[in-house]
Parts: sequence; C-alpha cells; structure tokens
Amino acid sequence: MGERVFIGVAWPYANGPLHLGQIAGAYLSADIFARYHRAKGNEVLMVSGSDQHGTPITLRAEREGRKPEEIATQYHHQFLESWQKLGISFDLFTSTGTANHARVSQDIFLTLLKKGYIYKATVSQPFCPHCQRFLPDRYVEGICPYCQSSGARGDQCDDCGKPLNPAELTSPRCSFCSATPEFRDSEHFFFRLSAFQDKLLDWVRQKSHWRQNVLNFTLRYLEGGLKDRAITRDIDWGVPVPLDGFEDKRLYVWFEAVIGYLSAAKEWAKHSGDEGKWRYFWQDNAAKSYYFIGKDNIVFHTIIWPAMLMGYDDNLNLPYDVPANEFLTIEGKKLSTSRRWAVWLPDYLSRYDPDPLRYLLSISMPETSDTDFSWREFVRRNNDELVATYGNLVHRALTFTYRSFNGCVPSPRELDSRSQAILDLAKDTLNTMDKLLSGCHFREAVRSAMSLAQEANRYLEEKSPWKVIKEDRQAAADALYVAISVISCLRTALYPFLPFSSQRLHGYLGFDGSVEGDGWQPRSPSPGQKLLPPEPLFSKLDEGLIDEEISRLGQGYDK
Ligand code: MF3
Ligand code: ZN
Repeated sequence: MGERVFIGVAWPYANGPLHLGQIAGAYLSADIFARYHRAKGNEVLMVSGSDQHGTPITLRAEREGRKPEEIATQYHHQFLESWQKLGISFDLFTSTGTANHARVSQDIFLTLLKKGYIYKATVSQPFCPHCQRFLPDRYVEGICPYCQSSGARGDQCDDCGKPLNPAELTSPRCSFCSATPEFRDSEHFFFRLSAFQDKLLDWVRQKSHWRQNVLNFTLRYLEGGLKDRAITRDIDWGVPVPLDGFEDKRLYVWFEAVIGYLSAAKEWAKHSGDEGKWRYFWQDNAAKSYYFIGKDNIVFHTIIWPAMLMGYDDNLNLPYDVPANEFLTIEGKKLSTSRRWAVWLPDYLSRYDPDPLRYLLSISMPETSDTDFSWREFVRRNNDELVATYGNLVHRALTFTYRSFNGCVPSPRELDSRSQAILDLAKDTLNTMDKLLSGCHFREAVRSAMSLAQEANRYLEEKSPWKVIKEDRQAAADALYVAISVISCLRTALYPFLPFSSQRLHGYLGFDGSVEGDGWQPRSPSPGQKLLPPEPLFSKLDEGLIDEEISRLGQGYDK
C-alpha cells in the first residue's frame, strides 16, 4: 500500500515575477519531493497558489494606478507559465482570490470565534484625516526613533532593521498625501495564540526529525511566550470579515493565506470529481503533511497555522515536517527585489533550459546554511558535470550501441565481477537516495546520483567497448549492456531533479510511458529492446554569458 503525502508550498505574493531565491527556498525542493514520492507509487497532493492579498499587492497597485486584482491576475498567469516551464508539478496551483478560499477562511474564522479562540478588542490605529482612511502600518512613514533615519515605515525601519509600530515614529506622515495621521480607535479581532502555548510546546518537542534550524527557531519563539495576534485590518482588499458591522474590514493576509493549504485541497477534490477526497490527505492519520517554505516563513507554519488547526478541528493533520531552506545569495550579495539584485525566473527561462538550473540549485541547495548562486558556477556545473560527466556517459554509450548493435540493447552473456559491482552500486545508490529523499536531504541525494555517473564513466573507460569490439564482440556487448543498465538507473535517480532530460532518456532507452510510472527501482532495458536515435541530453554553455548575465543584475524588470 502506498503512503499518502500532502505537500504544501509557500504561496507567493502575486506582485512581481518569481526569482531564484524563491525557487531555491521552497519550490524546487517541494517538486523533487513530490516527483520522488510519485515515482515510489505513493499518493501525492501538492498544492499552493498566488497570495493575492496584503500590502505587497496594494502598494504596487497604488503606485501604478491599477486595480489590485489586475496585478494579481497578471502575475498569477505568469506564475502558471513559470511552473510549467520549470517543471514544478503542482496538483493544483490556485489563488487566495477564489470564492472557495473565502468560504473556507470564513468558516475557520467563525468556528474559532465560536470556540472562544478569537475575540474582539479595541485598538488605536493611525487614521489619515485627509485620505479619510485607516492606514496599514507600512503606509505610515516617519523618523526612526532608534537610528533617526527619515525613511522609516510604521512596520519597520529598513536602515537599522528594527521592527516598529506606527505610534513610535517621530513626525509620522501618511505615505499617500503626507498629512499627519491621528490615532483613532478601531475594533479588531484577535486570535488567542497564547492559549496554545503548552500544547504547541508538547507537540514541537516530539519533532526530533525536524531540521535543526527549524526546530531551534520554533522552540526559541515558543519559549519567548506567545502573544495574541490581530487578524483583521481596516482595508478593503482581502477576504471579508463574515459579520455584520465589519463591512469595512478584512481578514489579515497572513491569517487567511495559510488557510489556503486546506482550501486548495478542497478545491482540488472538487475538481477531481470526488468532493470528499481532501480527507484522504487531511484526516487519514497515516498521511503525512510537509510544508516547503523559506526560513522567513517558519513561525507561520510551525506555530500559527498548527495553532489555528488545533483550535479549529481536532481531526485535521498537523504538519509532519517543515523543511524550510535558508537563503540564496546572488553573486555573493544578499538578494533584494527592490534593488533588483535578483535573477528573475521568466528571464532565465526565456534564455536557458530548465534542467541546468534545477541541477545547480539542487546540488547547492541552501538546506542547512545560505548558499550562493553565481553565473560562473552555473556554467561550470552545466559544462563539467551535466555535459561532461552525465551527458557524455549517456551519449557515448547510446550512440555507440545504436551504431554497432543495430539500434538495440545488446544481450549480455556472463558478467564479470567488475560489471556485477557497478550494477550493485547502481542498486545501492537508489536505496541510499530513497532514504535521503524521504528525509528531505536533497543535496546529498543528487550528489550520490552524480557519483554513480562518475563511476559509470570510469567503468566504460576501463572496458572501452569501442576498442574491444573488433576482437571480442561479446565483451563489448556485456560492457554496453551494463552501462545502459546503470544509465537506466540514473534516469530514475535523477528524475526528481532533472525531469525533462530523464524523460527524454527514457525514450532513447526505448521505454514507453513516463519515467515516473516506471517506479523507484533499478530496471534494465531488456536485451533486444529497440532504442531510439539518441541526441545529447545537455548542451555546453558559452562562458561569455557570465559577464552578460552579471551586467543584468540590478537592472529594471517590469513585465
Ligand atoms: N506570501 C507570503 C510570502 O511570499 C507567503 C505566504 S505562505 C502562506 O512571503 F502559507 F502563508 F501562504
Ligand atoms: Zn493621507
């Protein structure tokens, strides 16, 4: 019986193109994990969607004089195209703008309210007398009380990095009209996060399989004591508060965005034709939920969302693991979208193939510490590892076999111990990778696949079928059969990382259907199996692109 695996991936704000930091942080590892589990024959549900709400979207809309929904729709479509081109295989990528999501969010809100986990309180909020509206924290600007910088916002000061609240700013002003805001009372709803302190601590303390950074961060946060959190805002863009008298308020973006994991599962079930199917992933005790996110989102996934679930319904699965990645730096510097120090995914995909990027970000994934992306490393890994090691192995073995054995897999006779040893290594590699991948150790997993490719190159070099074929055709047949069998294992082993080239290789080896459907097992092509004319899996990249790409960093991107 297969396992059931729910995979939730962070919901990107639909206010700009995706960049490599997000891919390395969450999307790639989620996809590797999903593909691996599907190949194992497990049932996978991988969901996410565009986060349409929140100040990132409204700020951009106001700056450009457009409607927030226009911006959100534009980027939602761009995201879908990027997922497809990069091969991020969501079962559903929806958005927080659906009626279904509003319904599920409002149901959770009302249930928590009924159970006493949400309460009403009056707070004092900045209000602009000129614009006649309450101002979200970051729409108030002023002088930072800590570093005296004049460009501080009501949520934080970018210069000294201190979190602020609007009342702390010296000479506050409205960021739209520069009028001085007043403070007015406003009624808001609060989530009683403090009530879950003990329950959360007990739960988190059992999570010895979590990554060190995630576990430590979560424990430190919990031990610091949990405070209740305001979950409504005086804004008009977002999920409405489902109560009379609150028409001018919306649920806070972070409260409803995490609910997307549940609402998306329900939407997916409805599409599948079996409305109750979401329960397989949410109510089956044996199903495991994984949340792939960047490290800046940890609290929302290890504390707030679990608390919301605990309060809402005892029967829903809590996160099993939250394998958050660290950050990706770009050419040695901190990634910054506002300074445009980022590599945008649509740009990358308009110029290069998806697999070389997937490879580079897998082998240098920021799993346990920050890692750097550089174009030089991108070219080097592509040319030396994908082209020269793996691609060359495949191409040499397949073209020579195709030419010398009539386009078919040769029949082996008796295999010597060296041949047996490399076949065993291939099998062991799949087993090792099985353990690594199920434990979310992606970097190490792709490394072991590549060392198998290296070893197979060595084997082929030693056996040199192109030399021995003249005096001993059977010896050449044996060596090629073995090499092709190892290549067939690499096709499976590298599939989660390099889905496009693995699928092509699957075809060259003469297999039908999909690599994924072939399972996570060593499978040799049958002797006599008809090969397809092989083409190189990867192409060499010109070093000239390095400077060209570096000069693009920091330049505008406004598509
Ligand atoms: N939109 C948020 C961000 O980009 C992430 C939201 S993850 C969710 O940082 F789970 F809350 F949706
Ligand atoms: Zn104003």
